[in-house]
Amino acid sequence: ERLPELLRTMPKTELHLHIEGSLEPELIFQLAQRNGVKLAYPSVEALRKAYAFTDLQSFLDIYYAGASVLLKEEDFFDMAMAYFRRAKADNVVHAELFFDPQTHTERGVSFETVVKGLTRACETAKRELGVSSLLIMCFLRHLSEEAAFATLEDALPWRSHFVGVGLDSGERGNPPEKFARVYAKCRELGLRLVAHAGEEGPAEYIWNALDVLKVERIDHGVRCVEDPKLVQRLAAEQVPLTVCPLSNVKLCVFKTLDQHNLASLLDAGLCVTVNSDDPAYFGGYINQNFLETFDSLPALGAREAYQLALNSIDASFAPAVDKQAWR
Ligand code: ADE
Ligand code: ZN
Repeated sequence: ERLPELLRTMPKTELHLHIEGSLEPELIFQLAQRNGVKLAYPSVEALRKAYAFTDLQSFLDIYYAGASVLLKEEDFFDMAMAYFRRAKADNVVHAELFFDPQTHTERGVSFETVVKGLTRACETAKRELGVSSLLIMCFLRHLSEEAAFATLEDALPWRSHFVGVGLDSGERGNPPEKFARVYAKCRELGLRLVAHAGEEGPAEYIWNALDVLKVERIDHGVRCVEDPKLVQRLAAEQVPLTVCPLSNVKLCVFKTLDQHNLASLLDAGLCVTVNSDDPAYFGGYINQNFLETFDSLPALGAREAYQLALNSIDASFAPAVDKQAWR
């Protein structure tokens, strides 16, 4: 079979990856030991067993607990380097990494520690692996507008270290409008704008991410199909959707992978991309997402594989000259 080989080897970018979600249980235990942090689980196996989620919140509880082992610049560096080595093996030429500063500053870890560790990993990945990358700072939407503004203030001295901002964490009850003024400010600062929308939340959240926040890409967005007018718009404007198939199944957005709407979104002419979201928690890195999705959806073939890889390059925030070279 040639298709798996194509899926594995084709150059691709990853546009929806929470770096804290790449923290494997083995590394969690290693960092816990190094930093003297006590974990609620006795072993790697016990922790992995707890990765049985019923919805987004049940995942977030464990994900934030896992991040508690990250204290020093070196920890953020080691975590990101482990991801970059994995990404390189999957023929990722460029990755845009989400990071959640508030998950760390709330525990007394400084913004500087986080951004320095991640930046040094991005530079090392480029130099030693040839993988290019950008950082996207995410606001936790379950926290207040005021907290988001305080985070943006913290981030300003490091403005050149990240390309844009995103919005993640619990979607339901935390609509895009809550962050209208924060995003307006980020826009003034020349930051690129993305937001999670239409993962668990309704199609209305996708409309408002576009019209109120003025985002350039929608993270997930799979619930757009509930509104045909919205699907029409996403197609007409070629708004990229960073879809994460294995994540959607693990978090019960779709019951099984063969019920996933990725193939129909592509067929409707949307700019769909395939991504891994939180690969350490959801059972696979980007190539695993490609392989399992193509295995489960018979409508997907070589043509769709090329389209998805090209979409990922076109939708990235990488410099035009790099994008040209990867196509
Ligand atoms: N944080 C990490 N992964 C996330 C997801 N899939 N949705 C919302 N917030 C997240
Ligand atoms: Zn996500």
